[in-house]
Amino acid sequence: MNIDTLNSEFGIEGAARFSEDRGGLTLLSLRTGGATAEVYLYGAHVRSYQPVAGRPVLWMSRASRFVGPSCDASGDGSFGKPIRGGIPVCFPWFGVHPTDRNLPNHGFVRLKMWNVASVERTESGALTAKLSTASDSETLRLWPHEFEASLLLTLSNDLAVSLEIRNAGASPFTMTEALHAYFAVSDIRMVTLHGLDGAEYVDKLFESDRRLRQRGAVRFTAETDRPYLDMPDACTIEDAGWGRTIRIEKSGSRSTVVWNPWIAKARRMEDFGDDEWTGMLCVETANALTDAVSLDPGAAHTMGMKVGVDHDG
Ligand code: BG6
Repeated sequence: MNIDTLNSEFGIEGAARFSEDRGGLTLLSLRTGGATAEVYLYGAHVRSYQPVAGRPVLWMSRASRFVGPSCDASGDGSFGKPIRGGIPVCFPWFGVHPTDRNLPNHGFVRLKMWNVASVERTESGALTAKLSTASDSETLRLWPHEFEASLLLTLSNDLAVSLEIRNAGASPFTMTEALHAYFAVSDIRMVTLHGLDGAEYVDKLFESDRRLRQRGAVRFTAETDRPYLDMPDACTIEDAGWGRTIRIEKSGSRSTVVWNPWIAKARRMEDFGDDEWTGMLCVETANALTDAVSLDPGAAHTMGMKVGVDHDG
């Protein structure tokens, strides 16, 4: 669907508008009385969220690629490149594929075009946008299961994002997944992450299944890459540099993944600026590793996160 058709079918005057953005990607921009948000149809990838009176809440790398799917005559090459920042949607596996490292990291729905199912204004003045995608011949080559996925955004002052996955096939499947949110921070070394006290985590910097236990709040002094498991609770990012507190509530999620690449890994990633590691923190609403979810034919699972700013400056 082209931009004009999308706007005439789903646009809402002064509140919801489609436009063409970098790399020709279609962007839906939403505006309520309390906040703005943007989402690409490519990957159902939330690009930004910002309360009207505050700073941007999500981080986006200036080195990110914006390359959507391009089909050649054979139909091959219909996946694009990952976007670095915002909220990538990871499914049907989180991280490296468990048995084949050549398959795309974090699954393939972040590399695929999604469709617009609806854009609506609720009675309370919030905006909702629902995007959807499903298995096709390309995804079945990488993962032999039929599925339907939808991402529902609800923007009021806060931003809620929920991912529903339905098993549309005839046999059960097991999945891992994440809403891989990148938060903007003043300086990671001034940030304290609350809400994970007592939780068990795997330290991905060591090739081991050993579980460690979090004691107190998380502070950052080095590369950090940790799925916290069996942990359904909310987190808050306390940013002493900006005097800001970001609240992240979640539902249907038993894992919280905490990631900052620090200096050396940032240098190794070509779509991440060498000095940008200071300004971001990933706190990901997930079901990863032993928190994997199994779905019988016809069954569905919904995982959601709700982000808001309690205090800014
Ligand atoms: C995190 C993983 O969720 O995502 C890290 O725990 C990974 O190991 C990071 O490096 C970024 O992944 P990607 O595929 O977007 O570079």
